[in-house]
Amino acid sequence: MKKIVIAIDGYSACGKSTAAKAVADELGYIYIDSGAMYRAVTLYFIENYVNLTNPKAVDKALDDIQITFIRNPKTGAVETYLNGLNVEYDIRSMEVSLKVSEVSALTQVRKVMVEQQRRMGKKRGVVMDGRDIGTNVFPDAELKVFMTADFHVRAERRQKELLERDNLVNLDEIKANLRHRDKLDTTREENPLRKAEDAYEIDTTHLTIEEEIEEIINLATSKM
Ligand code: C5P
Repeated sequence: MKKIVIAIDGYSACGKSTAAKAVADELGYIYIDSGAMYRAVTLYFIENYVNLTNPKAVDKALDDIQITFIRNPKTGAVETYLNGLNVEYDIRSMEVSLKVSEVSALTQVRKVMVEQQRRMGKKRGVVMDGRDIGTNVFPDAELKVFMTADFHVRAERRQKELLERDNLVNLDEIKANLRHRDKLDTTREENPLRKAEDAYEIDTTHLTIEEEIEEIINLATSKM
């Protein structure tokens, strides 16, 4: 069967990464969480007090950042590493969530991340989720999915996800963060979040994760 690229874009907390991971496992494909890459850059910028308004400082920081994905042999989950350190937990913090959309709007940051993402998907056989995968990173992806979900459902899902990591965050705070990121991600100048013309839209509000996965697998199989 032909190996394809599956691009899954959409708003935060629509169920993109859970579905993308499962689809990749089922097809034996590589899974790339592009949001984790922007989060890792943001974590580095926070920890190293990088001034976002200083292009030289941003360039220097980007030169010093190496992001890798390594499968945890115990859990089977693919985890994010920043300069050799496992940051899978730290990049999901509220501190990073509050800053990531400002960092990811920077032209220099996007350029470096998009280059790396294209390299990772060069051999096809990849499922990548994010905001601009179908529109910019892989405009030639054989399957493009655009995910949406009711705003309140998204906020509740994010709260549950954070709780599972013992991170108790108030629902209003989560809603404010989602609103803030939705606004920045959809209105930024460079490659804003939008549905590619040839993307299939899936509203996950009333879908179980199993239904989401099944729908994507069915679409993918029809493209192989
Ligand atoms: O997917 P996740 O919610 O973890 O992404 C975090 C942030 O990274 C998004 O809110 C967005 O600002 C940025 N992002 C992006 N382009 C992508 C993936 C994520 O700008 N392809």
